[in-house]
Amino acid sequence: MSSKATVLGVGIATLDLINEVEVYPVEDAEVRALAQRRVRGGNVTNSLSLLAQLGHRCAWVGTLADDAASGLIREDLAHRGIDAAAATCVAGAVTPTSYITLSRTTGSRTIVHYRDLPELDFQAFARVPLDGLAWVHFEGRNPAETRRMIRRVRDERPAAGLSLELEKARPGMDALLDGPQLLLAGRAYAQAVGFSDPGPFLEDLIERTSAELCVVAWGERGASYLVRGDVTRQIPAHRPEQVVDTLGAGDCFNAAVIDGLLRGLATDDAVARAVGLAGFKCGRQGLDGLVEAACREGFLTGV
Ligand code: ADP
Ligand code: FRU
Repeated sequence: MSSKATVLGVGIATLDLINEVEVYPVEDAEVRALAQRRVRGGNVTNSLSLLAQLGHRCAWVGTLADDAASGLIREDLAHRGIDAAAATCVAGAVTPTSYITLSRTTGSRTIVHYRDLPELDFQAFARVPLDGLAWVHFEGRNPAETRRMIRRVRDERPAAGLSLELEKARPGMDALLDGPQLLLAGRAYAQAVGFSDPGPFLEDLIERTSAELCVVAWGERGASYLVRGDVTRQIPAHRPEQVVDTLGAGDCFNAAVIDGLLRGLATDDAVARAVGLAGFKCGRQGLDGLVEAACREGFLTGV
């Protein structure tokens, strides 16, 4: 497959209000933020911003409100060359907002997310052109509608890569497991469905999906993956000198796995490269300029 593939991401775009604090506060405390950032966030749009840095042509489809914050989202996506022409605008809605406390001591991020914006439905997705797409990446949300979207991609672009992020356990999510070739799960999802270790989680998941590859990211423990018919393998985390900012590490990881597979890397190499880039990310603030910095520091090659 081409390394300059066209990737479509289906999921959310948010406004992230990030307060950096010295240490994470206790309940009912009053603390002063040391710095504040107001940026576009959202799992799939974060992943697309990385895929764009990795050289792919990217497009996003999801819903947007018609308030001032949605202007910031549109401008940010345009600035990154991510085509948002197919997004649906919902009149009178409010941009989903994440209130994020980032600890300078640990680099951990605590997210309080508020949303009151309808999810993308199949009717809107049915109008999105799929020609020329090499990969479609979905967030695992709104299962009844997303299931139909996955089916459409499978029917109309059978050769395209198809991945699904499993971040939160939501009712009806199992309906999404038939169709994708790659599942990208998070630790929170694994724990919510009853597993405290990656191995048993992946062995259970692969039995319930058509995917040939299941991956689970596990924070500072790195990531594990299972290719159908093989055994679970684990890649330890790449630990940066100092963990500065873990916000979006999972989104970066997902993007790098997709990028590696699009480049035709072997699974081991694709996952190892993604663990490396996500760890490198944790040592830096934000996602901007990440790939350039990783290349400059000899951390990433062949981009
Ligand atoms: P999310 O951002 O969705 O919570 P994770 O915390 O699982 O995702 O992080 C995704 C990947 O980022 C992990 O698999 C790991 O490779 C890397 N990572 C996350 N936190 C750290 C950390 N503290 N040190 C090194 N690597 C990390
Ligand atoms: C980070 C992130 C933030 C967003 C939140 C949504 O992974 O995508 O940018 O606000 O998660 O759950």
